[in-house]
Amino acid sequence: MNAHNLATEAAWILVGTVDDIPRQGSRRVRNGETKIAVFRTIDDRIFALEDKCPHKNGPLSEGIVHDGCVTCPLHNWVISLETGVAQGADEGRTSTFPVRIEGREIYLDLKTNFAAR
Ligand code: FES
Repeated sequence: MNAHNLATEAAWILVGTVDDIPRQGSRRVRNGETKIAVFRTIDDRIFALEDKCPHKNGPLSEGIVHDGCVTCPLHNWVISLETGVAQGADEGRTSTFPVRIEGREIYLDLKTNFAAR
C-alpha cells in the first residue's frame, strides 16, 4: 500500500465551493501559466479541464455545458467533461485535472494532470 506516496504526489488545492459555480456554468482558476475551467453540471458534478479547446484553443469556460460535455463557443466542438476528449467526428483532447469534493469545497489536484496527447 503506498497511500503515503499518493498523498505526497498529489497537490490538492482548494479552489472554491460548489456554490461559487452556477449550474451548467464554470469558473476559471489559474495554475501558473495554465488556465483551468472548473465546470458544474446540472446534477452538481464538478469537472476541471484546461481552458483550451483541442481545436484552436477556444475558451471552454465560455462554452455551453450539457450532457456531461461542454460545447466550445468558437466552432462548436463538443468536449467530454470527464475525459477531455472531443466527441463525434472531431479528434483531440484537452487536459483534465482530478477533482475532490469535501462537503461543498472543491479541491483540484494540480500536480496530476491527465495531459492531452
Ligand atoms: S476552437 Fe473550439 S471548436 Fe474551434
